[in-house]
Amino acid sequence: VVDALGTIKRSLLDPMNNLENWNRGDPCTSNWTGVFCQIINDALHVTELQLFKRNLSGTLAPEVSLLSQLRTLDFMWNNLTGSIPKEIGNITTLKLM
Ligand SMILES: *[C@@H]1O[C@H](CO)[C@@H](O)[C@H](O)[C@H]1NC(C)=O
Ligand SMILES: *[C@@H]1O[C@H](CO)[C@@H](O)[C@H](O)[C@H]1NC(C)=O
Ligand SMILES: *[C@@H]1O[C@H](CO)[C@@H](O)[C@H](O)[C@H]1NC(C)=O
Ligand SMILES: *[C@@H]1O[C@H](CO)[C@@H](O)[C@H](O)[C@H]1NC(C)=O
Repeated sequence: VVDALGTIKRSLLDPMNNLENWNRGDPCTSNWTGVFCQIINDALHVTELQLFKRNLSGTLAPEVSLLSQLRTLDFMWNNLTGSIPKEIGNITTLKLM
């Protein structure tokens, strides 16, 4: 999950450094910007990426599909380019995008 988030970060352009804390410790317990987790089957999983209005551009990496318990993926009000990775179709838990 840390690797998936690292890949997602590297494929984005983040001129305001909104994701600068996406490198410390565990994303679920170290307060990473826009990353929210829940306990599912006795383990913490990333369930939300809320990156609404963060001045991001670049592309959304297909590794987002490795976040297998994702419910919400919010990239509204950014300037992402490219297509939505087809791997997103594999996240069966996804409810809001
Ligand atoms: C989490 O980080 C945000 C932004 O960096 C900060 O405003 C907030 O106070 C932090 N919360 C905790 C519980 O550390
Ligand atoms: C986004 O960019 C605008 C214009 O440069 C700036 O005013 C705003 O604070 C930035 N917001 C974030 C979350 O980076
Ligand atoms: C997106 O790009 C357009 C054109 O470059 C710019 O006017 C707009 O402010 C940008 N929006 C955000 C949220 O960065
Ligand atoms: C979706 O998952 C299936 C089974 O794990 C895999 O075979 C398939 O290649 C995946 N599709 C995409 C688009 O990632």
